[in-house]
Amino acid sequence: MTAVPVMAEEIVRYVVAEAVCAPSVHNTQPWRFVADGQQISLYADAGRGLPVADPDGREMMISCGAALFNARLAVRCLGYIPETSVLPDPGQQALVAQVSWRQRAPVIEFERRLSGQVHLRRTHRGAFDPGPVPRDLLDELCGSAAREGAALRIVADDGQRAALAATVQTAEHHLRLDAERVRELARWAPAPGSGRRDGVPVTSYPVRAERTDPYFPGRDFANGHGWGVPPLSTARLPRVAGAVGLLTTAADRRENWVNAGQALQRMLLTASTWGVAVALHSQPIELPWLREFIRTQLSGGAYPHLVLRFGMAIQAAVSVRRDVDDVLFSSRVVRP
Ligand SMILES: Cc1cc2nc3c(=O)[nH]c(=O)nc-3n(C[C@H](O)[C@H](O)[C@H](O)COP(=O)(O)O)c2cc1C
Repeated sequence: MTAVPVMAEEIVRYVVAEAVCAPSVHNTQPWRFVADGQQISLYADAGRGLPVADPDGREMMISCGAALFNARLAVRCLGYIPETSVLPDPGQQALVAQVSWRQRAPVIEFERRLSGQVHLRRTHRGAFDPGPVPRDLLDELCGSAAREGAALRIVADDGQRAALAATVQTAEHHLRLDAERVRELARWAPAPGSGRRDGVPVTSYPVRAERTDPYFPGRDFANGHGWGVPPLSTARLPRVAGAVGLLTTAADRRENWVNAGQALQRMLLTASTWGVAVALHSQPIELPWLREFIRTQLSGGAYPHLVLRFGMAIQAAVSVRRDVDDVLFSSRVVRP
C-alpha cells in the first residue's frame, strides 16, 4: 500500500475547513466528506435534514452546493485546478459531488478576494442602513449566479417587491401557526449558553424585529423567549429592506439545487467583497403554494429557491460550525 503524502492530507483538511464555512439551512451543516488521496467526496447527511420544512431535501442540496463552491475555491487558492463532478453516481443518492486536483494554475486576484471572505461572511437578519446597493454589484451578482448554472432576478418594481414581501409575511405567519414546523425549527435554535456547534445561535439574530417598507420578516428563531442581540446600527434615517432578488433555476432537479447552492455562495462571497451584507428568506419557498405563486407571478416561470436582500449594515452576528474532525472521514476507515 502506498502511503498518502502528508501534503495531500494537509490539502484535504484545508479544503474541508473552508467548505464547512458555507451557509446551510438553519445551520444544519448537512454534509460529510470522505477523502481518498487527491479526491474529496461530498455526501449529504440525511440525518441532518428537515423532514417537515424540506421533505425533498432541496434546501439540503443547496447547502451542500454552497459547501462545494467553497471546496472548489479552496482548491483554486492552493494553485490547483479543481475537477468537479456533480451527482456522479445515480446509485448513490447521497453523493453530491467529487472534487479532485492534479493540474496547477496560478491563483488570480479575484479568487483570493473571494476566499478572504469565506470566514468573515455572515448571514444578515433584519433591516439595512439606507442607501442604494451599487448597480455594478447587482450586475456582477447576476453574472455570478449565471456562471454556476442559476439565475439572480432582481425584483426592482415596487409592486413586485411588495408582492414578494407579502409572500414572506404570509409564509412566516403560516409557519408560526404550524406546531410541527415550530418544533422542527426549535430543534435547530439552541438556547443561550448552549455549547452546540450547529443550529442558529442567539448571537446570530436580532432581539427585535425591525420593520421596513416593504417588510420581509425574519424567522422566529427565539420562539418567543426574547433571545437575540441588540441592533448595532447608528443610522438616523429609517432603515430599509435593501435590494431584493430571487435565486432561481430553469429546472427543478437535484443538479439544479446543487447549482443553486454554488451560485448562492459565489454571490454571498462576491457581495461580501463589496462590503454588502445579504439576508436570506426561504420561508415562502418551503410552502408549495407560495413557491408556485412566486414561480408563475414573480420569476417568469423559473423555479425559485431563495428570496435574497442585499444592503449595507454593521454586522455583529456570530455563528458556529462543527470541527473538521466531526465531518471528515478517510475512505480507508469509512465506506458509505
Ligand atoms: C437553503 C438555505 C436557506 C436559508 N434560509 C434562511 C431563512 O429563511 N432565514 C434566515 O435567517 N437564514 C436562512 N439561511 C441562512 C442560514 O440560517 C445560515 O447560513 C446559517 O445559520 C449559518 O450562518 P452564517 O451564514 O452566518 O454562517 C438559509 C441558508 C440556506 C443555505
